[in-house]
Amino acid sequence: MKILAIETSCDETAVAILEATPNVKVGAGGSKRDPKFRVLSHIISSQVKIHTKFGGVVPNLARREHEKNLALILVQALKESTLYKRAPQGATSAQRQEEIAAILEREQDLFAHLKKIIVPLAIPDIDAIAVTYGPGLAPALWVGVNFAKALSCLWDKPLVPVNHMAGHFYSALIKMKKEKDAWKAAYKKISFPALALLVSGAHTELVFIKKHGDFQIIGQTLDDAAGEAFDKVARMLGFGYPGGPAISKLADSFRHPDPSADGEGSQTQILRSAQNDKIYFPRPMIASKNYDFSFSGLKTAVLYFIRGIEKTHLIKKLRPAIAREFQNAVVDVLVTKTIRAAKEFSVKTVTLGGGVAANEMLRRELARAVKKELPDSNIRFPDSSLTGDNGLMIAMAAYFCGKKTSPDKVQADANVTL
Ligand code: KG4
Ligand code: ZN
Repeated sequence: MKILAIETSCDETAVAILEATPNVKVGAGGSKRDPKFRVLSHIISSQVKIHTKFGGVVPNLARREHEKNLALILVQALKESTLYKRAPQGATSAQRQEEIAAILEREQDLFAHLKKIIVPLAIPDIDAIAVTYGPGLAPALWVGVNFAKALSCLWDKPLVPVNHMAGHFYSALIKMKKEKDAWKAAYKKISFPALALLVSGAHTELVFIKKHGDFQIIGQTLDDAAGEAFDKVARMLGFGYPGGPAISKLADSFRHPDPSADGEGSQTQILRSAQNDKIYFPRPMIASKNYDFSFSGLKTAVLYFIRGIEKTHLIKKLRPAIAREFQNAVVDVLVTKTIRAAKEFSVKTVTLGGGVAANEMLRRELARAVKKELPDSNIRFPDSSLTGDNGLMIAMAAYFCGKKTSPDKVQADANVTL
């Protein structure tokens, strides 16, 4: 089965084509437990350069870029996967074209592209079109959803709406392998029940998963998401969007002071004490009995600390120490609560997903804690190329728990939960 997946929930325009072959020998009824995957195409076009100067993702700019790029990326994906063929002229009826025009009524540029470069193609050999319908930025989601609906209508293929956070969960179960020039994707088997820590720019969730598709959120952030806190602290320290990579790089650059460095002035004192681990930021809700999170107080603590040293002009020198302690605080809270939940729910697998899963310290500490405190459980991380938003994770989620739906029933839903 070949799944074409489209992801436009935020600032990446992503298209993937995944071929899945279920292993019929395992389990009853052609089990999905041990499928073989082949990545026919996996394209991510990032808009990050466009949004950086605004300090965050601007929804209408994201929408415009998706609209500009989607049809072109789809053509590229079809070519890559050798599913690209031109059709004899006039293969699409006028009525079909009118239906598509109605679906893309608000995406006139996208409609024009589609008409010019997609309509002349032969129907590709795919079995379903998966699309992220939420959560995310509404204007960005709508472009992807309407594009997928138009394709579904044009090619007569079923549509599978996918929850973006389910995609982030499945990103931990794909192992990318390049063989010769082709990507293979090994499926990392998972034992249920599982617990997923999903940490992205807009979400921080602990999700209990009994089996494929059976998600239960047991805790989430009450205010800022972990990624959002990284982005905001990065901005306070003078870095652009996205802030996560900048903070983790800074934190890694931290060095304890050279004990032979001399100087007794107040500046040296402040610098020394900061570099001697004397900066301390709170670990909000680390001891609370529930599995919720809160990162807004931590962000404010960083802000007050920065204001407190403003007059010393030491901010540049202290940036690595601040970043390190901030990252320590976030990782401490995330790891502590994940381990506690994993124990209480007796899970067999802990998984990590979402943009913040790129954070090396979080990966390291979570792996260490699972090994030490839950020696009978496994841990699954996404490959570093799959931590951000991508189409493959949407295709995987569609394969394992998607439901084919008629296009007129699919709507973007910016606030949908798992
Ligand atoms: O999942 P994602 O790509 O988009 C959303 O669905 O939100 O997550 C983006 C978030 C941003 O907040 C970004 O700063 C954060 O992931 N991020 C990181 C790192 N790389 C990206 N946070 C911490 N450390 C990183 N290395
Ligand atoms: Zn995401």
